[in-house]
Amino acid sequence: MSPKELPPSKNLVFGRTFSDHMLRIRWTEATGWQAPSIEPFATINLSPGATVLHYAQSLFEGMKAYRHDNGTVTMFRPDMNMKRMNTSAQRLALPAFDGNALLECIKELISLDRQWIPKEPGHSLYIRPTLIGTNGTLGVAPPSEALLFVITSPVGPYYPRGFKPVPLHGTTEYIRAAPGGTGAYKLAANYAPGVVAQKSAAKQGYAQNLWLHGPEHWLTEVGTMNLFAVIKDKDGITELITPPLDGMILPGVTRDSVLALARNHVSGVKRLEGLPDVIRVSERPINMGEIIQSSKEGRLIELFGTGTAAVVTPVDKIGYNGGDVIIPTGKDGMGPVSKPLWTELVGIQTGDIQSDWNYVVAQ
Ligand code: COI
Repeated sequence: MSPKELPPSKNLVFGRTFSDHMLRIRWTEATGWQAPSIEPFATINLSPGATVLHYAQSLFEGMKAYRHDNGTVTMFRPDMNMKRMNTSAQRLALPAFDGNALLECIKELISLDRQWIPKEPGHSLYIRPTLIGTNGTLGVAPPSEALLFVITSPVGPYYPRGFKPVPLHGTTEYIRAAPGGTGAYKLAANYAPGVVAQKSAAKQGYAQNLWLHGPEHWLTEVGTMNLFAVIKDKDGITELITPPLDGMILPGVTRDSVLALARNHVSGVKRLEGLPDVIRVSERPINMGEIIQSSKEGRLIELFGTGTAAVVTPVDKIGYNGGDVIIPTGKDGMGPVSKPLWTELVGIQTGDIQSDWNYVVAQ
């Protein structure tokens, strides 16, 4: 009844502004999922004993809705987020839900707030579904009450002034994930401990941190993003490498999309202009030893992060063992492999390229 004033798109800062409405769905062990409701964006009342506050019973998703030039509103591969959200819920003993039904509710929310999707190129509505344990009991146990809510936030391009490659600090004193841990799930508790690693990287003059795992310093993720390296092998074949989904890596939607686009290029299903004719697409471990060796031999082509928020983030150096490993970058920031992949991905997301990855929210 009292819509807020839409902010000018040029002033948007990631995640600071919220649209008029939110979706709320309560769950109790006794009654199951209750009727969903779309309400004004407002505070949540919680018992100070709520399990989310004490034991981090909280998980989330991140996805985006785009407004195409012809007015159509779509979301990008939201089925993947619904699946991952249920996987995260299972890991925290929070209740499972019907992903298609939640998607229908989110569609209603976005249709209602569609004027909040900025029209400018590179802009979108960031969608944040969240599930928390809400019962007020200090016993460590599966929650008997939960709240699933969805809020949305208009966002601009992550890099408003073009792609500026970021320097990374190789983090060896902290880990993000461990075998058997929760790194493969989108849990709130995975993010809070990452902030000190990020702060430490910033203090040393780096934009983000690179999570290095184990004594061999395996590359795992970049800040809150998945990671790709491109190396020429000794036979001159370009290899696109990302760490495998071994339980420590978040199964990113952008990660999966980059792999699928590259594999479609290789198999000839859809060739991408500008990509090298022959590429090897590998989900395999890669460590700092291999990065340094390939760099010394002039075979390191590029390194980039992928995620929903920033899509593709090129990297220009890695602070490691007191020195910097320099990573080549293209003239506009992105390298020869990430650029054509990014172009295709963004073309699909913004509706310039037809794809069944787009889920229509409103025509
Ligand atoms: C993403 O890369 O989309 C993220 O996961 C970032 C988010 C935690 C802000």
